[in-house]
Amino acid sequence: MTDNAKTTAKPATQATLQAVRGMNDILPDDAPLWLHLEDTARRVFEQYGYRFLRVPIVEPTPLFVRGIGEATDVVEKEMYTFEDKLSGESLTLRPEATAGIVRATIQHNLTYERPQRVWTHGPMFRHERPQKGRYRQFHQLNVEALGFAGPDVDAEQIVLLARLWKALGLENSVSLKINSIGDPADRRAYREALTVYFSQNVEALDDDSKRRLSTNPLRILDSKNPAMQTIIEGAPRMLEQLGTDARAHFDGLRKWLDSAGLVYEIDTRLVRGLDYYNRSVFEWVTDRLGAQGTVAGGGRYDGLCESLGGKPTPACGFAAGMERLVLLLREGLEKSGESATPAPLAYLVHQGDAAAALSWGLAETLRDAGYGIVLHAGGGSMKSQMKKADASGARFALILAEDEVRDRTVTVKWLRETGQEQQTVPIDGLIAWLTAVTV
Ligand code: HAM
Repeated sequence: MTDNAKTTAKPATQATLQAVRGMNDILPDDAPLWLHLEDTARRVFEQYGYRFLRVPIVEPTPLFVRGIGEATDVVEKEMYTFEDKLSGESLTLRPEATAGIVRATIQHNLTYERPQRVWTHGPMFRHERPQKGRYRQFHQLNVEALGFAGPDVDAEQIVLLARLWKALGLENSVSLKINSIGDPADRRAYREALTVYFSQNVEALDDDSKRRLSTNPLRILDSKNPAMQTIIEGAPRMLEQLGTDARAHFDGLRKWLDSAGLVYEIDTRLVRGLDYYNRSVFEWVTDRLGAQGTVAGGGRYDGLCESLGGKPTPACGFAAGMERLVLLLREGLEKSGESATPAPLAYLVHQGDAAAALSWGLAETLRDAGYGIVLHAGGGSMKSQMKKADASGARFALILAEDEVRDRTVTVKWLRETGQEQQTVPIDGLIAWLTAVTV
């Protein structure tokens, strides 16, 4: 990923066009890590029966306002919202995937007959201040289970993530925090308790928190302002005020996590930034990425489906930030000195018209047999072609020039292994030779 966080604006005239600030290019050198992450995630999610779905990147604005909540940072200040030029409808680039997925399940009656486990991945958009690990276009892996009421599914998703970390070699880089924010009635009572508490201490609140006191006092707990930490420490805790059902759900979640042998911290301050949550909330965090340390977050959202016009459907889900995971994966690679770039097996070098024609067919035949072959294009001397062969990362160069065409052979020059002699292989025996050297 080429970090465009620091891209500065230039005058429009004659300036080289740049990507939008906070929206990154993922260049070929970085792409293998992304593909590895996507492949691994897909394999793990499918193991748990989650099926892929894709929803649009643009949705009607009210979906997010109603779904995520008017008093959230995302809706208040981070959405890319615009008016459709023809219809005049207000549209928004999705800041997250859950609201769109719930809309799709309602629209297509997906949970009518049975519950659904689904997942997706793709770009999300939030107008935040870009910094390491925080971008304006970023990508999420998103997993949702719709129509499941019990804590077993909450635990399933947390365990699934533990398996993903292990498959990615990140299990020692992340840790788990869980909490319960109760049911709406519990939260209303808690909200009142918080309002009373913070109102009694209003002089200790910063401007943002004063505003939140009337809109969403729970979000005050989320403040990162160091000057606010003492007052936040003293606030009443949600976990102490859970109703019977939410308490049983949380105990159930803990039981499942304990039986899976997962280590977790109960973080009574964990409230999450979107309004649709109830009961279980969880985050996987790392201390390796500075301020943007949450690599995955989610929880239960039993009321969302109904509030978007569907039938009541208990649900739970999470999203993992792919940029943050790629940063962790890259850090791991740098430590081990390994390369993530897949290289072709061979680079086919050719000189002269007859060799060019023969190479073209030969490359296709070798690809038919399943081998990765880069065929040189663009002419040039043998020396410059060999340089390109080396730069491609191929294990060896296959060389076809006048002599080889005449003798129906190829010359093999090893590019990586030292001590290997250059050798001549008959074209008809090349696949057998490749099979022998690649076992
Ligand atoms: P979220 O906590 O807003 O939750 O985002 C989930 C993850 O996306 C974060 O933990 C982080 O890794 C990544 N992320 C968020 N914003 C950015 C950003 N600006 N730049 C880079 N990465 C970012 C949700 O989005 C919920 N929809 C999760 C969910 C699904 N809950 C239930 N189902």
